[in-house]
Amino acid sequence: MIPTCILGLRSSFLNRSRLLVAGLVRYQSSSIPLVQSSATALARQLNAKIKSTGPITVADYMKEVLVNPTAGYYPTQESIGAKGDFITSPELCQIFGEMIAIWILNEWQKVGSPKPMQLVELGPGKGTLISDILRVFKHFDQLKEVSVHLIELSQKLREAQAKLLCSEANLGKDDAQQLNITSGFAQVECPIFWHHHLSEVPNDAFTCVIAHEFFDALPVHKLKKTEQGWREILVDIDPNSPDISFRYVLSREPTPMSQLYKPEEGDKRTELEICPSAGALLQNLADRFTEDGGFLLLADYGHNGEKGDTFRGFSNHQLHDPLLNPGSADLTADVDFNYLSRCLKSKALTFGPVTQEKFLKSLGIEVRLNLLLQNEKLSAEHKKNLKSGVEMMINPQEMGKRFKFFSIFPEILADHLKKFPVLGFD
Ligand SMILES: C[S@@+](CC[C@H](N)C(=O)[O-])C[C@H]1O[C@@H](n2cnc3c(N)ncnc32)[C@H](O)[C@@H]1O
Repeated sequence: MIPTCILGLRSSFLNRSRLLVAGLVRYQSSSIPLVQSSATALARQLNAKIKSTGPITVADYMKEVLVNPTAGYYPTQESIGAKGDFITSPELCQIFGEMIAIWILNEWQKVGSPKPMQLVELGPGKGTLISDILRVFKHFDQLKEVSVHLIELSQKLREAQAKLLCSEANLGKDDAQQLNITSGFAQVECPIFWHHHLSEVPNDAFTCVIAHEFFDALPVHKLKKTEQGWREILVDIDPNSPDISFRYVLSREPTPMSQLYKPEEGDKRTELEICPSAGALLQNLADRFTEDGGFLLLADYGHNGEKGDTFRGFSNHQLHDPLLNPGSADLTADVDFNYLSRCLKSKALTFGPVTQEKFLKSLGIEVRLNLLLQNEKLSAEHKKNLKSGVEMMINPQEMGKRFKFFSIFPEILADHLKKFPVLGFD
């Protein structure tokens, strides 16, 4: 277990000093001096792309940096854990996954435990959360007729997930050799499938979806209010740098995103981040839940429509200029829960966001911790780590307040959920 004090969360954000240079509509990306390093493979690809097509949106930049199959961050770097760039709650201690499992079982039983049940995780990272959930499911004898579907683009992470979840004998040898892992049989006795996209998960079955620190990795567009109206912030090549480097520029003309965006009445922000792929994904899920039944639990750090500039990078547990050495560091932006709720209006019931502290406490995380602390089989070191892991997750000064839980259910359950409120959100 890793001492939590040295690990970086992805939730504090860079205080960038952005200066609008009059006339040039140029942004200075950061007060961090750019290191003159040899350009990353991805920097060379982006440089060529911008040279041929002109400045790109921050969303296009973020998507390329994170998931480009040959040079992107998740497919090539050691991202999560002490040796990586950041740590997440499931990696801190097993109790997090156990709480999520209890929540799923509770909500599933409330609607009559429909079978078969597809358990989908978006962006499973190292596979720790789903592994902890399946262990609890097994304990409750709930694995019959459950299939697991992992949505993951990174082959590197697919391999890590398969290694944790499947014994070697249960994973097609050819699949493993080709690094094209598509299915296996989990050590806890249920079939497990890998997909690139949610649309590949079969329809016609009840589906429970979990997403932990996934939505913050989806690409955001950045908009700025000017005297001429909303304009989009773009990424361009910095012509003043001897090495390949990038800078922000403000589009002179409206872009499709700046034209599409309609601010809510009373919204005083002058800078915004919008994640249309998150809205579209949730709308798709809402349709699926209405047709075949299901629900989603989303956990991430985010706000309720009051923040405007949260795009940031992480490297080696430290904040990192997002434009520096693309592909070498993680990029992230806070989830705008107000925007997600608006996308789901009259499509699904939404619950939350509630803080991680409130959610985990109402599920009984402290009771579970105390039970484990009384277990004589556990070492003193293990107990110490469990205690510090839970403390980090629920302490409002750490992850307790910044991390939020959000959930969606089909509208048909409105009356039922009034009588039997969704656990953690009442
Ligand atoms: C920040 S990590 C979170 C990992 C894990 N859920 C956890 O909490 O430890 C983001 C995960 O989402 C995956 N990912 C990012 N963008 C994705 C996309 N567009 N489609 C599928 N997976 C994606 C990454 O490869 C990684 O597994």
